[in-house]
Amino acid sequence: MKFNWNYPTTVWVGKNRIDDLASACENLNIKNPLLVTDKDLIELPFIKNILASLKKKFSQLRVFSNFSGNPIGENVEEGVEIFKKNNNDGVVTIGGGSALDVGKAIAFMSAQTRPIWDFEDIGDYWKRANNNISPIIAIPTTAGTGSETGRASAIINKKTGVKKIIFHPKFLPSIVILDPMLTVDLSPRLTAATGMDALAHNLEAFCAPGFHPMADGIALEGIKLIKTSLITAFNDGRNIEARQNLLAASSMGSTAFQKGLGAIHSLSHPVNSKFNMHHGLSNAIFMPYVLTFNKKFIEKRISTISSFIGLENNFKSFLDWIITLRKELKIPHKLSELIQIKPDQIEELSQMALEDPSTATNPSKLKKEDFKKMYEYSIEGKLF
Ligand SMILES: [Fe+2]
Repeated sequence: MKFNWNYPTTVWVGKNRIDDLASACENLNIKNPLLVTDKDLIELPFIKNILASLKKKFSQLRVFSNFSGNPIGENVEEGVEIFKKNNNDGVVTIGGGSALDVGKAIAFMSAQTRPIWDFEDIGDYWKRANNNISPIIAIPTTAGTGSETGRASAIINKKTGVKKIIFHPKFLPSIVILDPMLTVDLSPRLTAATGMDALAHNLEAFCAPGFHPMADGIALEGIKLIKTSLITAFNDGRNIEARQNLLAASSMGSTAFQKGLGAIHSLSHPVNSKFNMHHGLSNAIFMPYVLTFNKKFIEKRISTISSFIGLENNFKSFLDWIITLRKELKIPHKLSELIQIKPDQIEELSQMALEDPSTATNPSKLKKEDFKKMYEYSIEGKLF
């Protein structure tokens, strides 16, 4: 079954939709694409197949893959150089969040004269940009970040070691291909971690303050899809329906979080960069601690989610579901089961969490002390 959606951008969904990649280029009038994917994927058979079939149409096809997880500004610069030298007129980006973020940033930066850091997601910095940006086709091979439907890229500034969010509305790819066949070989461990990232996006977006019923509706359905399919895909990676549901939920999460994220992400980002911990895994660990910390402010919202996804209409049933889900996905309950954080490091992490852009849309206003407590409770395994 093939489906074509036009919200939030053109999304082609279904098994083997990757076969339509050449038509996607044609639709966007791309005559000379740069294919961007990361180092770890380039040797995989399914990427080789995609390359071979695209080379039938574009015999001169160039590939940029000189980067892996947690991309830095220099990776984007190198890609931009190749794009310009090769006179590319569009980017086809395939992979997990890092690859999609780099691909989107290459297309964007190829049209700019300022450095990438001038487009950090602050106020209206994005208005500094030249709008003449080449089209982007994004093809996710994991179901978590939802970068394919996002208007930003996360790129690390090597000088400061801080991950910056680079934003422009035209980061949103013109065509997205969601093909469940590209995710069937994801390991159970990565399926769990990325799935929990998608869950965190939908959950935090739904609980973020503000009037945004469109985002709320998408987030609710995204959570339901994860409830239906995450355990299934974890136990049976080749279940196409579950894989497709998770890809949809991931794209929905990033569509919904235009409304905002919250403390799960604020706590995660510092441990991701300082301890190189997988982003989805840390989100999964922090989730129940943040839920119980925020309880007073989100009890009603969480009850709404509970009844929508077929649980009892209260906060506790949702919390119990999250805790059971984590157990079934073999995700530890305590942060200390994975990393050792020294007491003096909590101070630094809490300051970073406070300054994280996700903090502004947490349901309750947070101080540094609150983050300290949330880190301590997560280390001890104590819910609020
Ligand atoms: Fe995330």
